[in-house]
Amino acid sequence: MTLLEASDIRISRRAYIPEPISPDKKVALQTVIDSLCSRSGLRIELAENGEECFGLIKSYGMFSGVKSYFLLAGRTDDPKMHEKAGFYGEELVLEATRLGLGTCWVAGSYDKTSIADALAEGEALACVISVGEIKETENFKEKLLSGIIKTKRKSSREMSADYDTAPEWFKKGVDCAVKAPSARNKQPVFFKYTPEKVITTVNGTFSCNKIDLGIAEYHFELGSGRKITDFA
Ligand SMILES: Cc1cc2nc3c(=O)[nH]c(=O)nc-3n(C[C@H](O)[C@H](O)[C@H](O)COP(=O)(O)O)c2cc1C
Repeated sequence: MTLLEASDIRISRRAYIPEPISPDKKVALQTVIDSLCSRSGLRIELAENGEECFGLIKSYGMFSGVKSYFLLAGRTDDPKMHEKAGFYGEELVLEATRLGLGTCWVAGSYDKTSIADALAEGEALACVISVGEIKETENFKEKLLSGIIKTKRKSSREMSADYDTAPEWFKKGVDCAVKAPSARNKQPVFFKYTPEKVITTVNGTFSCNKIDLGIAEYHFELGSGRKITDFA
């Protein structure tokens, strides 16, 4: 499965088998994490104390069986920390999808105090992503939720006013960005085509906007095959 194919099948998964991820899959995830950390300057870790932060009450009943999650942290003095977390975190999400694992970006429904100790001086938490083997008996609930969300998804034309007149590669980028996860499914990112560059804008002031921006940019680059970000 390619990353593009993974972006087609990915949906947020909130019900997991409460077992550790297999050693083979952990090795594969760690290889991806190492590469992402060296490319991004972020600190990304696979943590396994999920029960502490994703218990029934702490997750408002939204999550079950969470054992593992990715922690994405960055330097407080890095102005692009949240955008980068979205961008590189989504690559990790799609790599996990290729391994058959379920994931869900989580900004709200977990207990942040359990994670505070894992942060170093000068570091801030951008987001966490639950990860694990999908509990298939809960599949129906997840698919139903995802079906409802899909009907509420924006169209490519709603994400870019230039969609009809732009080149084919741009259309493919926006088509892939439509499938990107976003906090509360708000899809706040817009893409503008100009012959010189692709311009992204984010609607509103919601706290997760920069993460949503990075995630949508990752999907755009994946679908279009063109680089539009510059995190240097
Ligand atoms: C930055 C971010 C934060 C999110 N936070 C939560 C959360 O706190 N709780 C939750 O249940 N889902 C959360 N989600 C998942 C979204 O609700 C989900 O991605 C969106 O509804 C689209 O559905 P899909 O991922 O199945 O395509 C978050 C997603 C993103 C990108």
